[in-house]
Amino acid sequence: MSLFLVTGGAGFIGSHLADSLLADGHQVRVLDDLSTGKRANLQDQAELIVGDVADPATTAAAMAGVAGCYHLAAIASVQRGNEDWLGTSRVNLGGTLAVLEAARAGRVPVVYASSAAIYGDLGEAVATEDTRPAPLTAYGADKLASELHASVAWHVHRVPTLGLRFFNVYGPRQDPSSPYSGVISVFAKAIAAGAPVTLHGDGGQTRDFVHVGDVVAHLRAAMGELVRGGGAAVLNVCTGRQTSIIELARLLGTLAGRTPDMRHGPARTGDIRRSLGDPSRARARLGIAAERRLADGLGLLLNANAD
Ligand code: NAD
Ligand code: UD1
Repeated sequence: MSLFLVTGGAGFIGSHLADSLLADGHQVRVLDDLSTGKRANLQDQAELIVGDVADPATTAAAMAGVAGCYHLAAIASVQRGNEDWLGTSRVNLGGTLAVLEAARAGRVPVVYASSAAIYGDLGEAVATEDTRPAPLTAYGADKLASELHASVAWHVHRVPTLGLRFFNVYGPRQDPSSPYSGVISVFAKAIAAGAPVTLHGDGGQTRDFVHVGDVVAHLRAAMGELVRGGGAAVLNVCTGRQTSIIELARLLGTLAGRTPDMRHGPARTGDIRRSLGDPSRARARLGIAAERRLADGLGLLLNANAD
């Protein structure tokens, strides 16, 4: 059994990963500043260091003695990156650099969260890992720059890295409380309460929604692959199916037994019109796929929220 560092482990995806590692008997150390994460998301067995991942000394101390690092800490909101360019970049790129630097001396394998946002707007094309990246936002630019530095980490410093380009992740514990929160968490809460939902623009924009359980399976498989093979690969984590935001609202309404009250607001700057990924390389490399259908995952989420 091994000790793993999970940066951002008190957040939505990181806390599910921590649960999975603990369930398999591993030890988990979390580095999180609790800016969007919560202590309550973590089991008591997880060690929590409250600190800033972009602070090199803090991250170096957290890295001591670990067998591997899952780097998930970031300001996950694309919209916040539009508003606070420097502040988000300090965390989203600076945090990755601090993690890679801390991993350098011990050549600690690092699996990190990249994003579909690196692709920008592809029109009708499906995003494969060979698609030329063209981010439209600071968030996407920082994730792409993180990938470039992760490649340097391997080629110059022999730190093994594997980047996972998550598409739109959803599931229990995704915090719906801020205007920056993920659309499924916001809509699920509003529809359950009989409150209106706001579609930014016409609602025709699409996303490839992937359940957090499938994301955790990819993270775990990626660490195994990295320990065996080294390198500096990047892989999509997606389903290969897309759903428009208006369809999403209708589907949630059907599952909740309510007709959603849909309103339209202004479109977001840099909002991707169509986002659809090709999962075949991750399937070939990791031997797994994102299996959960959206309707099933949303049903589980509504049940969990009702508890
Ligand atoms: P989240 O906000 O729930 O988790 C991020 C965690 O990082 C939080 O616990 C937060 O407190 C922590 N954090 C933020 N700034 C920090 C700092 N300076 N120092 C230490 N900790 C800090 O978001 P999430 O959805 O769980 O995202 C996890 C990762 O996955 C992020 O890197 C995000 O960019 C990436 N990602 C998420 C999605 C998605 O759809 N949710 C899609 C693509 C990529
Ligand atoms: C999300 C993630 C980001 C990730 C990216 C990968 C969050 C908060 N952001 O960004 O970390 O890298 O996926 O693809 O999880 N919308 C509405 N009404 C709302 C909220 C959103 O219409 O109330 C629309 C948005 O304009 C957008 C879509 O829903 O078109 C998805 O928005 P959001 O959930 O914020 O995610 P992304 O911006 O795609």
